[in-house]
Amino acid sequence: MKFFVDTADVKEIQELAATGLLDGVTTNPSLIAKSGRPFLDVIKEICAIVDGPVSAEVTATDHATMMREADKLSKLAKNVCIKVPLTVDGLKTCKALSSNGIPVNVTLCFSAAQALLAAKAGATFISPFVGRLDDIGQDGMELIADIIAIYSAYPNLKTEVLVASIRHPIHVVAAAKMGADVATLPPAVLKQMFHHPLTDKGLSAFLADWAKTGQSVL
Ligand code: E4P
Repeated sequence: MKFFVDTADVKEIQELAATGLLDGVTTNPSLIAKSGRPFLDVIKEICAIVDGPVSAEVTATDHATMMREADKLSKLAKNVCIKVPLTVDGLKTCKALSSNGIPVNVTLCFSAAQALLAAKAGATFISPFVGRLDDIGQDGMELIADIIAIYSAYPNLKTEVLVASIRHPIHVVAAAKMGADVATLPPAVLKQMFHHPLTDKGLSAFLADWAKTGQSVL
């Protein structure tokens, strides 16, 4: 499973990229607004930090302007992945871009039917939002299972399932058990995944016992 980080905070990305565990980055207009920085500068900086795909989202709602925005964003770096919303114009844009070999992440997916359309439009990634479904009382992970089942039934569909709107490590583990291709994680969730109280307790005990030996490895 690939791990992307879902943030536009360049410092956080630098810190997490240093672990060697980061395969890509996703951003969205809300995350860019939160960063308080110019969109194009942020995308360029992130692309220089990570080798993997960096999703940059179009903000137009009509196909023609989406295409113009995509053209500008694609020229920022070779690892830019154009993010489009799951609308008719978004999927028209996805089809046009993917036909020209430009990677596309289709975002704001909330149903298996939408995911099927995105795959037919040649999406590189489909981003189902599990947390936002959970928030309204629907089972986000059930949607992931449905999409994986549908895509598996049609091996010609090459779209990767990118689990988005993740709220906690349980979402990540459930997605991994289902074989989802990618999880995009808020930095806090990725950091949470490293920790377990028994690891901390066990390490303290090992170090205390080691100190009693008076030995040194180096
Ligand atoms: C995905 O690419 C989105 O940026 C993100 O996962 C949305 O998550 P949220 O529901 O926490 O805003």
